[in-house]
Amino acid sequence: MDVIHSVADLRARLSRVPNNVFVPTMGNLHDGHIRLVGNAKPRGACTVVSIFVNRMQFGPREDFDKYPRTFEADCAKLAAAGCDVVFAPDETEIYPEPQTYAVAPPEIADILDGAARPGHFRGVATVVLKLFNMVAPKAAIFGKKDYQQCIVLRNMVRQLALPIEIILAETVRASDGLALSSRNGYLSEAERAEAPALHRALLTAREELRDGKRDHLRIELEAMARLAARGWRPDYVAIRRQADLMPPGEADRELVVLGAARLGATRLIDNVELTL
Ligand code: PAJ
Repeated sequence: MDVIHSVADLRARLSRVPNNVFVPTMGNLHDGHIRLVGNAKPRGACTVVSIFVNRMQFGPREDFDKYPRTFEADCAKLAAAGCDVVFAPDETEIYPEPQTYAVAPPEIADILDGAARPGHFRGVATVVLKLFNMVAPKAAIFGKKDYQQCIVLRNMVRQLALPIEIILAETVRASDGLALSSRNGYLSEAERAEAPALHRALLTAREELRDGKRDHLRIELEAMARLAARGWRPDYVAIRRQADLMPPGEADRELVVLGAARLGATRLIDNVELTL
């Protein structure tokens, strides 16, 4: 496995590769990330994983400074998973000058997580476009755990005609249902025991939809009330259509229930898909 820090070295290394499959990350890797690498392996000649904590997608009061950085352990996990190239640039490599050109995503970037985190998806879309231009992959893999991110990036690739296949991988969960996340490490023992309640609230909402209930607002409000009663501070529970995360109409069958809520100081997100 090659560990590469500069764009020039990356381009030199990948110029010998006919097709590479790319998994962008911010490091602090867990089994969810490693599963993405497992998905990438059979799809291309070379699996490239980037590790870059992207300041541009963090709000001024968010956890950029304390975001966990575990580079040595990450490299050991990636080597064991069969990753071929780790691209670990520093900030001046990605942002050698102020990033005054940026991807301006449409309304989807301002709803749900975008409403709670202004500018977040602009930062995500901009860095992912830059990383795509550096890695030039034939395919890239993203986890459905960050569902809105998946849709923002898939639509960006389609509208900007990037020659990259976007593959969405299922969310990897702990045995109690909690979606694996770097931010789970912020949870106290008691919070960690409570954390699967977010997933359960979304599953309950999904059951109601499967049972034929169609009063979406009531389902959403009840899910949030249940979480609030357990000490969470919910940002949203929202029933949306998969394609663009807008509220579904009568004819929409491909839905997703998304939720975000704070448990103590930690903000967790999750989602479950359903087809009616
Ligand atoms: P990060 O949070 O490190 O996640 C990297 C990739 O791993 C994303 O595609 C994310 O959806 C996926 N992932 C995280 N937890 C997962 C889980 N439990 N199951 C499946 N996939 C999971 O997302 C980012 O980094 C950044 O925004 C990035 C795209 C790298 C741009 O900076």
